[in-house]
Amino acid sequence: MLEIKQVAKRSFLRNNNNAPYLLSNISATVDQGERISLLGASGQGKSTLLRLLSILHTPDEGDICLRGMSFRQIGSRLWRKQVCYVAQQAVMLPGTVEDNLKVTAQLHQLPYDQKLAERLLEAARLTHIDLKKDARELSGGEMQRIALIRSLLLRPDILLLDEVTSSLDGPNTLAIEQMLSEWNRSEGTIMIGVTHELVQAERTSTRIWFMAGGTIAEDASARPFFENPSTETARQFIGRGQTEVELT
Ligand SMILES: Nc1ncnc2c1ncn2[C@@H]1O[C@H](COP(=O)(O)OP(=O)(O)OP(=O)(O)O)[C@@H](O)[C@H]1O
Ligand SMILES: [Mg+2]
Repeated sequence: MLEIKQVAKRSFLRNNNNAPYLLSNISATVDQGERISLLGASGQGKSTLLRLLSILHTPDEGDICLRGMSFRQIGSRLWRKQVCYVAQQAVMLPGTVEDNLKVTAQLHQLPYDQKLAERLLEAARLTHIDLKKDARELSGGEMQRIALIRSLLLRPDILLLDEVTSSLDGPNTLAIEQMLSEWNRSEGTIMIGVTHELVQAERTSTRIWFMAGGTIAEDASARPFFENPSTETARQFIGRGQTEVELT
C-alpha cells in the first residue's frame, strides 16, 4: 500500500544542496492495516518524517508511493485526502467546533457524515461539548481529540498520528486507543504514530520504527523489538526508563 523509497530531507537551516541531511536513507513498505509506533529521542525527526509522508514537506530525494503511484503523480491535495497527518499541536480554525469538524469534508468536496461524527464524539468522550462553542476555547486535550475526529471523518487510507494522546489523562488516553483500535479493525487503516510512552507503543502497535542518526535505525515487529532490540542505541532507549527518555 505505502512504499517509502530512499527518502531524504536536508536540514531546514539552509536552503541549498549542501545543507546537511536531517533524514536520509528512509525506506520501508507498509501493508494495509499495519499499526506502527515511531519511537526515538526528541529532535530525531519523527514529526518531520510524518510530515514528509503527508507531503507537508517535500522530500529532497527519493520517492513515496501509494498503491504504486508516486506523490508526484497524485498531487499533494489528493495525497492528503488519503494520507492524513494529525499534528502534535492541534490547530483549530476560526469558527465553532462543528465548523472544524465539517472543514475537511468541505475542503475535499465530500458530504459531511453527521452520524459518524456523533459516534466518534461519543467514543472520544466528547459528548459534553457544545458544538456551537468557539473551537479555540476548547482545552488542549479537547482540541487534540477534535483534530483527530476531523481527520477520521475523511476515512483516509493512512493516519499519521503525532503524539495524539499527549494532552490526555489516563482514561481519555485509553478511550482514544480503543477508538483507534476499533477503527483500524473495521476500516483497515494504516496507522503510524509517534509516542514517547513505551507502554503505549507496546499496547497499540504491531511494528516499531526506531529513529536514530537521522534514519529508521530499527524496523521490527513490536514484540521482538521490546524483548531484544538489535542496536545498542535502541537498547539504551528502552532500558533507561520513561522519565529520562522524555527528557532526552
Ligand atoms: N519547519 C522547521 N524549520 C526549521 N527546523 C525544523 C522545522 N521542523 C523541524 N525542524 C528541526 O528538525 C529537527 C527534527 O524535528 P522534529 O520535530 O521532526 O523532531 P521530533 O523527533 O518530532 O521531536 P519531538 O519528540 O521533540 O517532537 C529539529 O532539530 C527541529 O528543530
Ligand atoms: Mg515531534
